[in-house]
Amino acid sequence: MHLFSYHNPTTIFFGKGQIIAVRRAIPEKHKVLVLYGGGSVKKNSVLDQVRAALNKHTFLEFGGIEPNPSYETLRGAVELAKREGIDYLLAVGGGSVVDGAKFIAAAVPFEGKDPWDIVEKHAPITKALPLSCVLTLPAAGSESNNNAVISHTAKGIKRPFSHPLLYPVFAVLDPTTTYTLPLKQIGNGVVDTFVHVAEQYLTTPAQAFVQDYYAEGLLKTLLEVGPQTLQHPLDYEARANFMWAANQALNGLIGAGVPHDWSTHAIGHELTAMYGFDHAQTLAAILPHNLCVRQKAKRAKLLQYARRVWQITESNEEKAIDMAIEKTASFFETMGLKSSLAKLGVERDVIEKLPARLQEHGLTALGEHGEVTPVVVKQILKASMDA
Ligand code: NZQ
Ligand code: ZN
Repeated sequence: MHLFSYHNPTTIFFGKGQIIAVRRAIPEKHKVLVLYGGGSVKKNSVLDQVRAALNKHTFLEFGGIEPNPSYETLRGAVELAKREGIDYLLAVGGGSVVDGAKFIAAAVPFEGKDPWDIVEKHAPITKALPLSCVLTLPAAGSESNNNAVISHTAKGIKRPFSHPLLYPVFAVLDPTTTYTLPLKQIGNGVVDTFVHVAEQYLTTPAQAFVQDYYAEGLLKTLLEVGPQTLQHPLDYEARANFMWAANQALNGLIGAGVPHDWSTHAIGHELTAMYGFDHAQTLAAILPHNLCVRQKAKRAKLLQYARRVWQITESNEEKAIDMAIEKTASFFETMGLKSSLAKLGVERDVIEKLPARLQEHGLTALGEHGEVTPVVVKQILKASMDA
């Protein structure tokens, strides 16, 4: 196991009816800006519950944060927060709203010229507003990690950034807030979570038994509750297990002390910037082919995955690995996503265009050992186009 430091400061309030916890968890001295997306939280009354919980606080609201939140939209919230002396942010929605809140938290006290530099140029963050969230879509894990992914629409780029000051203070995870999710977003959430685990687990062995068994437990949970929650949208236990799995997949725990890949995510972010696909859809179209192209390097963990997660007993190890990859792709299809770029109808020139963009962004040595060069990315894209 590699050396690691592990600290996750976010308090979780989990379960039905927990939105009221917001009242005590945010000290009344703060002036709060409540952030939300395109209106789902108005329709399902989650915003009303938040307003009721904040009835003793001073708060303003800012809506309209879109999926794959854009710098252009978030700038409006930064200006509002500065003008009104906001000193606490409460995100109410999915990963995009939480990520947007993290950008705003860093941008309000930013002393440089343009806060976009935080994302593109890694301009140092020395201060951030405290932020918390009421999560309505289990997927990104943003509710208790310090990452955010922000798009610059005019420049056509989507980039991640992170900082220890950007962990939410608390996150409310009430599974009943997810009952109104469209089936497509359930599928997206399950697949995004699955790939978060895969990118921290399907690497090279690190003798990290706890992390491995935990990762396998999360994957098995998703295989069980993913289809269940699609078929029975009001099944509280299925939603609760899905929501907790999504949280645990990307709160730093399973990734401590083990190698990370993240090449599927890096390729996926370019696909979203180029074609506007949902985040999880890009991952579903790339992961199976990424695993296939790099199966030699990932052999030991892929075999472990085949045996322990899929219970494949086939004695020919190559065959067992192929079967596990195929089952992964068909699970994504079961969840309503397409498992190749060919099925998404992408033009073949993606094979040349996308690696060039990664190169432009300096992302030329991805993967657990920096072995995913533009040449390997081309092979992965070709495999996905030929599938
Ligand atoms: O905007 P509203 O009206 O709220 O509708 C949203 C949005 O259209 C809707 N929705 C959310 N909760 C709902 C609901 N509709 C009905 N009922 C509910 N309860 O769902 C749509 C998608 O929302 P979004 O927040 O975009 O989805 P998600 O949570 O999947 O977040 C995706 C973003 O997270 C980033 C992705 O790149 C993408 O930009 N990620 C962030 C990560 C992180 N911070 O660690 C890691 C991830 O890998 C991911 O990259
Ligand atoms: Zn993701």
